[in-house]
Amino acid sequence: MARGGSTAAPPAFPLPLLLLLSNAFFACCCLAAPPGALVTNVPGFAGSKLPSKHYAGYVTVDEAHGRRLFYYLVESERDPAKDPVVLWLNGGPGCSSFDGFVYEHGPFNFEAGGSAGSLPKLHLNPYSWSKVSSVIYLDSPAGVGLSYSKNVSDYETGDLKTAADSHTFLLKWFQLYPEFLTNPFYIAGESYAGVYVPTLSHEVVKGIQKGDKPIINFKGYMVGNGVCDTVFDGNALVPFAHGMALISESIYKEANTACQENYWNASSATCDEALSKVDAVLGGLNIYDILEPCYHGTNTKEVIPQNNKLPPSFKDLGVTSKPLPVRTRMHGRAWPLRAPVRDGRVPSWQELAASVPHGVPCMSDEVATAWLNNDNVRSAIHAEPVSSIGPWELCTNKLDFNHDAGSMIIYHKNLTSQGYRAFIYSGDHDMCVPHTGTEAWTASLGYGIIDSWRQWTVNDQVAGYTQGYENGLTFATIKGAGHTVPEYKPQESLAFYSRWLNGTKL
Ligand SMILES: *[C@@H]1O[C@H](CO)[C@@H](O)[C@H](O)[C@H]1NC(C)=O
Ligand SMILES: *[C@@H]1O[C@H](CO)[C@@H](O)[C@H](O)[C@H]1NC(C)=O
Ligand SMILES: *[C@@H]1O[C@H](CO)[C@@H](O)[C@H](O)[C@H]1NC(C)=O
Ligand SMILES: *[C@@H]1O[C@H](CO)[C@@H](O)[C@H](O)[C@H]1NC(C)=O
Repeated sequence: MARGGSTAAPPAFPLPLLLLLSNAFFACCCLAAPPGALVTNVPGFAGSKLPSKHYAGYVTVDEAHGRRLFYYLVESERDPAKDPVVLWLNGGPGCSSFDGFVYEHGPFNFEAGGSAGSLPKLHLNPYSWSKVSSVIYLDSPAGVGLSYSKNVSDYETGDLKTAADSHTFLLKWFQLYPEFLTNPFYIAGESYAGVYVPTLSHEVVKGIQKGDKPIINFKGYMVGNGVCDTVFDGNALVPFAHGMALISESIYKEANTACQENYWNASSATCDEALSKVDAVLGGLNIYDILEPCYHGTNTKEVIPQNNKLPPSFKDLGVTSKPLPVRTRMHGRAWPLRAPVRDGRVPSWQELAASVPHGVPCMSDEVATAWLNNDNVRSAIHAEPVSSIGPWELCTNKLDFNHDAGSMIIYHKNLTSQGYRAFIYSGDHDMCVPHTGTEAWTASLGYGIIDSWRQWTVNDQVAGYTQGYENGLTFATIKGAGHTVPEYKPQESLAFYSRWLNGTKL
């Protein structure tokens, strides 16, 4: 985006016209970002120049309470004046959207520094979502990541208050960055953001309809392995585990007979007993990815002779597009099995940790923690220092969070029936929000199928399956990906992301 450097031309228009034009002039050719928001150096990045502009800072959503939400904007590396603007939200509730920035689709791949806690080395990510869009990473609600409130009563919150605050954030953010008001705008997120995304989208649409200014050019939303509905999500695990050959035919039949497909809410002792057998055999797995890829190396390509008759999809066995090994441990704690999100208070990560005493062996938040708690990084990205707001944590225990928006099904119906596009995708090896539930609820909306179940491909490789519905609803799986899809399949993720955003078929 062309910023600065433009000298004001002498007024050549009669005054009323000039006034009329001044908005457009302001919006498309001048430095409009708030002074001081530009990130001029990124500690750990040794390259000479960033491929696009980065801006970061706080937006105050409640002056009286001093409630401030932190954002990091990565401008599109292609054409920021025209490319879509996408708001990204991680879930939890309580997890920072820097999870997406550091580990998933942000502009950098983070390499651990020499010793524990030292500054990581940042390399450019060839599959950053900023290749085709401007991405706003938002820490929400206050209390999460680098966002905070001076009044701790704000940490008692829930779905509806979170959506209202994020909507306030968006209205204020677009006032600060009016040059993005005409770009198509999308809201995206994963996991518990399966609740944040539709509830915020609904706030945005209500705001547009009642005339809130500025007018947000909202087009649709995207949800990955998203929480949606207690019954659909809660009933998804047993069929998933059966389909993935994690439970035997006989355990499956016993559970099915005893529970009558009502697994989320076991209502008899025989059902409880059958489900405890399921728990026992799934217990050692990484819930976020049943394949447990502690490390993806880059040196495992098998040599396939040129003259073989194998289909193209066998030519790249064992190859990963990931330039660095993936993290080894995510939270050091995990959502327990068979615990779909229910109405009411959501247990904190601390409380959940008690039910998963040894954490998840294959996941890590170490590079993100080292980077975001470094004083130079905090200052470079215009965040409050550790001494003022405390350390950044991937997922916080500060919140007392109430799931008060109920099932997301009516939100999805409402938004899609009004013409907003929706892309609902699932890493097919995630056991936390299994694809079986997501596939079932998307089908349950009752829309006609306009693109029936088929493969979608990247570089001749089957990348997953997709089904398209009326009203702009698309469901897709990403083959071999866990809960945080772009972390596992960065190249495929950039492919579905850019195709869906520009309206190309998967
Ligand atoms: C914090 O907010 C609550 C609720 O609005 C209010 O009652 C309380 O006085 C505030 N506390 C401070 C220290 O401002
Ligand atoms: C569990 O399901 C039964 C119906 O099978 C229902 O009556 C009951 O209210 C449900 N329990 C909860 C906690 O929703
Ligand atoms: C969507 O929700 C809004 C606000 O609650 C409501 O006014 C509108 O009638 C709903 N539209 C549809 C199609 O459900
Ligand atoms: C949409 O994006 C895909 C993937 O980047 C690209 O191959 C395709 O040409 C684009 N189509 C349009 C119409 O821009």
